[in-house]
Amino acid sequence: MKQFPTNFLWGAATSAPQSEGHSTQNGKSPSTWDKWFELAPEKFNENQGPENTSNMYEMYREDVQRMKDIGMNSFRTSISWTRLLPDGKTVNEEAVRFYRDYFSELKKQDIQLVANLFHFDMPWWLMEKGGWEVRESVDAFAYYAKTAFELFGDLVPMWTTFNEPMVHIECGYLYGYHYPAIVDFKKAVQVGYHTLMAHTMAVKAFKDGGYPGKMGIILNVSPCYPRSQDSEDVKAGHLADLLNTRSFLDPAVLGEIPNELIELVKDHHLTPVTEELDQQWIAQNKVDFIGMNYYQPRRVQAPENPQFPASMPSDFYAPYDWPNKKMNIYRGWEIYPEALYDVAMMMKETYHNIPWFVSENGMGVADEERFMDETGMIQDDYRIEFMQDHLLQLHKGIEAGSNCFGYHTWTFIDCWSWLNGYRNRYGFYRLDLANQYERQLKKSGLWFKELALTQQLKE
Ligand code: BG6
Repeated sequence: MKQFPTNFLWGAATSAPQSEGHSTQNGKSPSTWDKWFELAPEKFNENQGPENTSNMYEMYREDVQRMKDIGMNSFRTSISWTRLLPDGKTVNEEAVRFYRDYFSELKKQDIQLVANLFHFDMPWWLMEKGGWEVRESVDAFAYYAKTAFELFGDLVPMWTTFNEPMVHIECGYLYGYHYPAIVDFKKAVQVGYHTLMAHTMAVKAFKDGGYPGKMGIILNVSPCYPRSQDSEDVKAGHLADLLNTRSFLDPAVLGEIPNELIELVKDHHLTPVTEELDQQWIAQNKVDFIGMNYYQPRRVQAPENPQFPASMPSDFYAPYDWPNKKMNIYRGWEIYPEALYDVAMMMKETYHNIPWFVSENGMGVADEERFMDETGMIQDDYRIEFMQDHLLQLHKGIEAGSNCFGYHTWTFIDCWSWLNGYRNRYGFYRLDLANQYERQLKKSGLWFKELALTQQLKE
């Protein structure tokens, strides 16, 4: 039996665009996802768009009760920027009513909210001006953040600025998975820089305003494991780590962009446009905690034919297909729980043992109805085993002194996921697509309840 610390947070995460629905109603203006779906629905799995979520916009009261029913004492969602400020300036009173009511319900049930400000959902009005490519996005985001702190500060114990900033940078500007689906390394660096400054200025607004609660950021971090100890492979691992992990973790926690990263982008003619006081703001606005989303490790090797100057990150490191890997055969990602221990140690040793939590971890499964029993319950023993194995590694890290205060799975109710729609199911509750109001508890939800209420993990 493994005992977790008292006050450990047990919960799950989702995001506004993936759970609320009503994506073009109740005063909300379109985000890039709403607009992209309107322009190119065929890109979305089974033509399911952001309107086809579990409808938490109407169901939040019952859903908060469902959280309580499975022992959750914490929950993350995001605020929709375009619901709160449809034109970037004017507050939508209907959104204020909705979020205040939703967050009050969580507070009443003693479920600690982590409220995130951006989960890939760039306002369309801002995208038309260039989105994260233009400096205006930094001020617009800081204004939105301040508005949210003012309106909901009394109901939010923990704030985060961004979910996985590397994802909207890579997917939008390098690999063509998210709007605007551009392939341009220089633009990606500029977008990354403005994202970092938007984060920094939101933290500054939070500190200057003296709002209650703590401030953090959520990063998708994995240790970068090189193919071998040969110097070229080790170098590839080091560069992958620099670009993917340290690019946000260092400024957020240590208050500085790694010098090595600044030199690297300079050598490759990728230096972004900056402003004079930026470094100072970064140094003065560190976070209180970090959220880590972990699904699978990053394995890398030296690239075969690197270009100089680099035109893509693949000139710095190439993916390595480890022959011994264990796969999630239902989703296609590697399963490697040991990385959570390595993350725990990295936070302890390199990042001053700052408080952190696992903000997403989970197992996506396609065609999950094949595991439904005659009573209608999904028998997701594979998911229980997945969480169990990850929690054992996390526990080992906590015993070794890492300052981890919680574990959130992805996700609470099966949710719509960008271009993948409902292809991969992750929830404790199954969502019946024929009737999006129907939620059915899975076996993993019962398992989680016992874990959360006893704080003990059976081995
Ligand atoms: C996480 C994102 O990285 O992965 C979520 O924060 C996303 O927004 C989740 O839904 C699962 O992704 P997928 O592609 O398996 O549906």
